[in-house]
Amino acid sequence: MKVVYFTRAFPFPDLADSLAERFAVRMEKQDIPLPREKLFQNLRDVNILVCTLTERIDRDVLDHAPALELVATYSVGYDHLDLAALRERGIWATHTPDVLTEATADLTWALILAAARRVVEADAFVRKGGWQGWQVGQFLGMELSGKTLGIVGAGRIGQAVGRRAVGFGLRILYTARRGKPDFEEATGARFTDLDTLLGASDIVSLHVPLTPETRNLLSRERLFAMKPGSILINTARGAVVDEEALMEALEAGHLAAVGLDVYAKEPFVPEALRRHPRAVLLPHLGSATVETRRRMFQAVVESILSFAAGERPPRHAIPELVHAA
Ligand code: NAP
Ligand code: GLV
Repeated sequence: MKVVYFTRAFPFPDLADSLAERFAVRMEKQDIPLPREKLFQNLRDVNILVCTLTERIDRDVLDHAPALELVATYSVGYDHLDLAALRERGIWATHTPDVLTEATADLTWALILAAARRVVEADAFVRKGGWQGWQVGQFLGMELSGKTLGIVGAGRIGQAVGRRAVGFGLRILYTARRGKPDFEEATGARFTDLDTLLGASDIVSLHVPLTPETRNLLSRERLFAMKPGSILINTARGAVVDEEALMEALEAGHLAAVGLDVYAKEPFVPEALRRHPRAVLLPHLGSATVETRRRMFQAVVESILSFAAGERPPRHAIPELVHAA
């Protein structure tokens, strides 16, 4: 029997049971990031590894996994997987696209609204008991209607964020590697280059994957080239932004606010961000709804079953591995 190893306790026993008849299933007992040493120890006889975005699957890990055939990550992003190393060893990898798109777009909007209307800052003020009554000039924020939203990376999630923007009366600019005529038709969005987008947008929302090309895409120079008083939202990956420069831009008032779900060195969140009243900070919650987290697990199960049935590429295979096959 092939061994399937889950690096987390996943709370979907009915779905996991569907694997138990055909595989030797081993699942960690806790839902916390697995220490690397423990991962090394547990991989010796594993054929199918189900990991999360907190486990870096690189050559060192693969050296401890001589029987590995498939890595199924419980995430759409796969910057934590060394694709070249997987390819060299003929190991397939899958991810969980589509099923988390709407939940992540919703969370992006939670950040946009919270940052624009100072929701977290005002909530803390009320809780402290300091409120003395309605004021003309209290907690004034940015009105969304009529403003411009810049979507950096109009893929599945970026486009879902854009569709929601229509209801808020925003104009949309976007970047991607290629233009998206259907998205433009549905939303009135305009394709542009990154620098034009940054200079013209009141709110910039990041949705590119983390790759060598997008690491530090929002460099210091680009952050300070953003429209003064604009808002930056990041639900993509922390390392897409120069985090030091982001804090400087916020401290200097060049950015009016930031809404972040992701950080350069998670779970570390710099003190300068944690104490800043205009930073809305979430602990990487993009896909965190009851429905979506279950659908992600279903996608993982589908990938495993498709792989076991001999499908190559398996369902939800990572595109770069498919193209290289
Ligand atoms: P996707 O459909 O692949 O969209 C990615 C978009 O980025 C595409 O429009 C792509 O352009 C564009 N892009 C890629 N490389 C680029 C580059 N070098 N320059 C400019 N644009 C580039 O992915 P998705 O499903 O929307 O997910 C996006 C990312 O969100 C994931 O990779 C993950 O890191 C993050 N995420 C975070 C959470 C969370 O919990 N916070 C949840 C889910 C996802 P083309 O379409 O032209 O190829
Ligand atoms: C979350 O960040 C994901 O990539 O699924």
